[in-house]
Amino acid sequence: MKFIARVRELMARATNDFGTALLIYSRRLGGDALGGYDPILRNAYDCQPKGTCVFGAADKYLLVPKNRYKAVLLPNQKKNTDLGVGWITEDNTAEGYDGLWGDETNLDAYRKEAGNVRQLLTQEIVNQIEAHVQNGSEVVDIGCGVGDLLAEIRRRKPDVVVCGLDFSAKAVEVAAARFPDGKFVQHIIDETLPYTAHSFDVVLCTDVLEHLDRPQTVAAELVRICRPGGVVVVVVPDGHVDQFLGHYWFWNEESLRAMLAEWNPVVMRLPKTREILACINVKISVPTS
Ligand SMILES: C[S@@+](CC[C@H](N)C(=O)[O-])C[C@H]1O[C@@H](n2cnc3c(N)ncnc32)[C@H](O)[C@@H]1O
Repeated sequence: MKFIARVRELMARATNDFGTALLIYSRRLGGDALGGYDPILRNAYDCQPKGTCVFGAADKYLLVPKNRYKAVLLPNQKKNTDLGVGWITEDNTAEGYDGLWGDETNLDAYRKEAGNVRQLLTQEIVNQIEAHVQNGSEVVDIGCGVGDLLAEIRRRKPDVVVCGLDFSAKAVEVAAARFPDGKFVQHIIDETLPYTAHSFDVVLCTDVLEHLDRPQTVAAELVRICRPGGVVVVVVPDGHVDQFLGHYWFWNEESLRAMLAEWNPVVMRLPKTREILACINVKISVPTS
């Protein structure tokens, strides 16, 4: 077996241009081929991700069955240059995100990836929710990063009150400096959110739930902190095409609707980025006499 694996490795090396080629090996979790590594040939897979998730350049994609492989770097490779800057967050740690949100070069690369897709996504989200946001609305972004979504909302509705939460200290620091009148807190989203019930008119949680162990518990928290008559807006990548190894959940429209079913969401696909948006109108409870 070792001999065959070695031959495969040599073939992989021979067929790749080592200057720019796919220098990505994958490790089958728990497996032991080639000392724990399977060489993955460039173009060995027959589909390309079409989603908006963060990937490196096309010739560096690693297309492998979800959750079965982990990308590892060869000597001299760096995640942010060889895999795409988003990969520095693959471990889902606050420190990993600090390396994105607190480093201007990485942040700039992240914003420019895939033809500025993050900016397009931000605009598409705000296009959908703008009608729900009034001047003076209190808006909170759960997993806010450096506040790009809040910035777009404020660009369109200057008088909104902006709040945000993230576990990355750097994200909170940058967002707080950007919005001196805003309220930003560092908090690990797990089961509860550090807000009292019915605190906000608009509760946003975009490209975050797929990173979490208990998305449904967190969804219930999003609804709890939203005022009756307000909206909760959840956005996730398209699970059919998303291959990012830092994600635990891969929803499509149907499965996202099922996960949020008890709050009767309206689920749609954003027209250009193809991410999935769920809007929950939080009910005004009618007092019973
Ligand atoms: C993919 S980014 C999305 C950022 C932003 N919402 C957007 O749409 O551009 C995920 C964000 O969630 C934060 N995050 C991930 N897991 C978290 C957790 N368990 N607790 C708090 N924040 C978390 C990250 O720091 C990061 O800012």
